[in-house]
Amino acid sequence: MSAKIIKGTEIRNVILEEIEAEVNEIKEKHGVSPGLVTILVGEDPASISYVTAKIKTAQKLGFKEIQDTQPVDLSEDALLELVDKYNNDDSIHGILVQLPLPKHVDDKKVLNAIDPDKDVDGFHPVNVGRLMIGGDEVKFPPCTPAGIQEMIVRSGVETSGAEVVVVGRSNIVGKPIANMMLQKGEGANSTVTIVHTRTKDLAAHCKRADILIVAAGVPGLVKPEWIKPGACVIDVGVNRVGEKISEKTGKKIAILSGDVDFDAAKEVAGFITPVPGGVGPMTITMLMKNTLKALKFSLGIA
Ligand code: GUN
Repeated sequence: MSAKIIKGTEIRNVILEEIEAEVNEIKEKHGVSPGLVTILVGEDPASISYVTAKIKTAQKLGFKEIQDTQPVDLSEDALLELVDKYNNDDSIHGILVQLPLPKHVDDKKVLNAIDPDKDVDGFHPVNVGRLMIGGDEVKFPPCTPAGIQEMIVRSGVETSGAEVVVVGRSNIVGKPIANMMLQKGEGANSTVTIVHTRTKDLAAHCKRADILIVAAGVPGLVKPEWIKPGACVIDVGVNRVGEKISEKTGKKIAILSGDVDFDAAKEVAGFITPVPGGVGPMTITMLMKNTLKALKFSLGIA
């Protein structure tokens, strides 16, 4: 039997409606909207397209949005000063510095300079620590892992006692999602294994998974025979494997492929996310949710 396809685009639309309703309610009661600044240094085309998508979504939701684009040769000190300016701007509740930054800038230094209470990416060590503690301590779960957890929960997949195997140990996806799935609470309480490039028998671990989360950055890494029949497979891979001409715009666009052999895997899995249209749309959605949360924290209503 073919798996149920977990469509990130559909879940995104539901969550964005929930956010918009809350934004309108807060605007009426408190006369304030969530304020988000996206800082982009340089002209990396992929970063421009990510930032543009974030801005468009924020604007549609009625956020105050500032896109602060800076030249590629902006000094590290000047960038730190810019972050500080927004740290001290009461109309800004969320600050996002788009990564990667140019080589002459130490991105750790920049991320650490963001006020942890405005760190809607959830990358500041204070927020990483809060995530590790779990429960009420968590303020801003990082956006991609938060999106993954929402997709699992909203698809009705049981997580309590489930064997979760995470492929990949990045700070942005692998480590935080593993940590989130093992916490006490809804959408968690799982038994978690992290596997990575040095793991001896990847396939054997994957085969045990009730929920398999793949964030390896290797196109087609996970084969259908690695998947337990009926498992929930979340493919975080966004690999550019070629280019094509868009039918809509006539422009060149990337052909994207996930880390899972989707066509074969969907015949074994119970649930599976596609690429594109799976985890991708959820990341921006959770950024909006975190920015709304930041406003609510600032108003003392979260
Ligand atoms: N670059 C690619 N993805 C992200 C993200 O989620 N946050 C930031 N700040 N930069 C990114």
